[in-house]
Amino acid sequence: QVEATCQYTAARAGKFQTPHGIVETPRFMPVGTLANVKTVTPDQLQHTGAQMVLANTYHLHLQPGEALVEMAGGVHQFMGWHGPMLTDSGGFQVFSLSDIRTISEAGVQFKSPRDGRIINMTPEESIRIQNALGADVIMAFDECPPYPASREAVAVATDRTYRWLQRCIAAHQRPDQALFGIVQGGVYPDLRAQAAAALKELDLPGYAIGGVSVGEPPELIEKIVRATTPLLPPHKPRYLMGVGTHREMVQAIAAGMDLFDCVIPTRLARHGTAIVQGERWNLKNARFRQDLTPLDETCGCYTCRTFTRAYLCHLIHAHEILAHTLLSIHNITALVSFTQRIREAILSDRFVEEFGHWLSPETALSE
Ligand code: GUN
Ligand code: ZN
Repeated sequence: QVEATCQYTAARAGKFQTPHGIVETPRFMPVGTLANVKTVTPDQLQHTGAQMVLANTYHLHLQPGEALVEMAGGVHQFMGWHGPMLTDSGGFQVFSLSDIRTISEAGVQFKSPRDGRIINMTPEESIRIQNALGADVIMAFDECPPYPASREAVAVATDRTYRWLQRCIAAHQRPDQALFGIVQGGVYPDLRAQAAAALKELDLPGYAIGGVSVGEPPELIEKIVRATTPLLPPHKPRYLMGVGTHREMVQAIAAGMDLFDCVIPTRLARHGTAIVQGERWNLKNARFRQDLTPLDETCGCYTCRTFTRAYLCHLIHAHEILAHTLLSIHNITALVSFTQRIREAILSDRFVEEFGHWLSPETALSE
């Protein structure tokens, strides 16, 4: 359901219902690849304002296996997160993480980096695993071409992704899980348009743009998103995979995207880096050693309400794991609350007024 639209851009505020609760958009989703958001408990996660959390088919299949997760009562029960969840199909991870792989019409064959065993990941297998894991939203098994790649290579991958999507739909067994399709097409607008048009015909419960943020320059990401988003059905959730930063999210929201995910907040946290007002601060820096102010006094997270920069700096220097937890709590809160503030701005028709400075001039003036 679209609740409000911006009068100057294609930004919208909306919400959708899942069996584990409502997701309000635009919204950032934290990544919990192996059925945990690294160093953060579900209770802490809930207090960041996160609504939907991601897990990954590829990783959970390798370890501990979907059979165990299913036996435990599904991924929500297994990890103790009772809010909405999404699993990525594993397509992307097979391509980025396993070295020995062969792609064919059937699927992807690769060697498990864990034990060297040969694994055949197919659209049917990805959906079977995702049905066993039991997330509220599951993703189609797709082929994400690298950047740069020739138009011919991307066209082959994009067409195959469409045939794989049809097989995913046929294999999908659980009506309580929503299967989202993924638009590929690389940096080629006509391939993106063709893929979007074909996917639209399938009337899926949600749509994703994949294959961005794979090494192409940021202007190109924005161009692709601006060209592709208007071609997606307006009354379905739209998810931009693997994005992002404050700027990328504002630009994509202005184009009409709703959902985002990125490992940045938790990865930065493990490197002692905090996201403060959209900037990255390394808390290990000596200038924080005696700084007894909160990390970000405009932030309402547990970390900022309770601890000083000096304390965080101390924990990092002492190699204490608590530093990772406290910085993850803050960084996730920073991104979730940023998208939450954008949502509120759209609802009160102040999106461009409050967030327009993140937009490039063309976007701010279009429509
Ligand atoms: N995560 C980031 N990009 C992608 C993509 O293109 N496909 C999938 N399945 N996951 C992603
Ligand atoms: Zn904070």
